[in-house]
Amino acid sequence: MWWDNAVIYQVYLRSFQDSDGDGVGDLPGVLARLEHIAKLGAGAVWLSPVYPSPNYDFGYDVSDFSAVHPDFGTLDDLDALITRAHELGLRVMLDFVPCHTSIEHPWFREHPEYYVWAKEIPNNWRAAFGGPAWELDPQSNRYYLSSFFPEQADLDWHNPQLRAAMAGALRFWAQRGIDGFRLDALDRISKDAELRDEPPAAGPPPLPLDPADAELEHPFSRNAPGLEVPLKTIREAVGDALLVGEVFLPTTELGPYLEWLDICFSFETMFAAGDGEALTEAITAALQNSRPGWVLSNHDFDRLATRAGPGNGRAATLLLLCLPGPAFIYQGDELGMGNGVPATPVQDRHGRDQLRMPMRWDESESAGFTTGTPWLSTGEAEVPSVSAQERDPHSTLTLVRAAVTLRAELDGPVAVESPAPGTVVVTRGDHVIAVNLSAEPQPGPPADGLELEANPGDGRDLSVIPPHGGWIARRPR
Ligand code: NOJ
Repeated sequence: MWWDNAVIYQVYLRSFQDSDGDGVGDLPGVLARLEHIAKLGAGAVWLSPVYPSPNYDFGYDVSDFSAVHPDFGTLDDLDALITRAHELGLRVMLDFVPCHTSIEHPWFREHPEYYVWAKEIPNNWRAAFGGPAWELDPQSNRYYLSSFFPEQADLDWHNPQLRAAMAGALRFWAQRGIDGFRLDALDRISKDAELRDEPPAAGPPPLPLDPADAELEHPFSRNAPGLEVPLKTIREAVGDALLVGEVFLPTTELGPYLEWLDICFSFETMFAAGDGEALTEAITAALQNSRPGWVLSNHDFDRLATRAGPGNGRAATLLLLCLPGPAFIYQGDELGMGNGVPATPVQDRHGRDQLRMPMRWDESESAGFTTGTPWLSTGEAEVPSVSAQERDPHSTLTLVRAAVTLRAELDGPVAVESPAPGTVVVTRGDHVIAVNLSAEPQPGPPADGLELEANPGDGRDLSVIPPHGGWIARRPR
């Protein structure tokens, strides 16, 4: 399939490129920058939610599933973007948000039966961003289930009319030429119809959770039996479009999702990013148990350059781009952007502003992002812009382009190991990829013929993997 080895570039629309000077990125802005994405060697672009939204969760609180937010442009702008992207050989993916809507979605009042309600707080379920997962609706004097922000109400996929409405929305986009969907928070699509209490946690959670939520196991509030009905609805609506699951579970639990989806993000790998041994374990588990999409960063968690630890960003990027299967680059990762400065005023109540700083296109005051005032401060010029990095043969952008080009040549049997502290060594057929995320030099695997180095000079002596470095080489014959 087209995505088997694709690089998929995540555009966080609000922060990518503004075209009309209102300080918010938009679809014509993306259109104007498609060449940048194509030049990276990406096969697809994934747009963060394009829909109308009151922006309590910046688009993940959808108020109309079949329209474009006026801040981003019009349906015609999206059509034009799809057309141009296809001309450039890029597929276009939307972010689809199946598990909740904004409480300002007309359905919330016109079709309350699409949501999950209770007269009294029925159980101990917790919201992902803190607090109980139940909110009082003063108008009806009932509680609605709200697994994220209070302004987001969970949908009830047990209801066949809701399923039909969501299928209609997906078909609407598939018919416009959308090639794939990233499905948001999919572990929440199936919940216990009896709303039973979660039991206490038996140990620490496999992936990071809000502290109160981490005190519970989650057999009922998420990932409950009965997944096949909603997932079949989604699959049938989109035909053979790419379906990527954002399923916040360890890879050992992704099997039932992958009966309907093409790939799921490997979050264990993402959270292991600075630790060679943990990375080796997570990559191995993902390859054994699932069809992983490798994520360097996204708009929810620390950026790779920050998460991987000082000096490790380039080596970790090289590694993740050379793993078998689709890899996702979040805008700015190709520049080595780390977390930005906290925004004033605060935009995201869950503290994610620092991950959503505008792209740095050039060295001008607003970095070429806008002619107006950016919705989030662009902060200090922590990394050089696209235009500066394009001129620099040693820049992160140059490295990422070279790694994406080399990816196409990597195939054959895969083996992943951590032969020395802090290292990850991946063999792929004729190639070996070696990175060292520790501060000490480590012995390298047998190698012959340097292909690419994470930092200038890393491949000078292939018997060594330098600290915070790495390389790709040919394996000896
Ligand atoms: C995951 C999205 O990536 C995140 O930004 C959002 O807040 C939650 N899902 C809720 O939709």
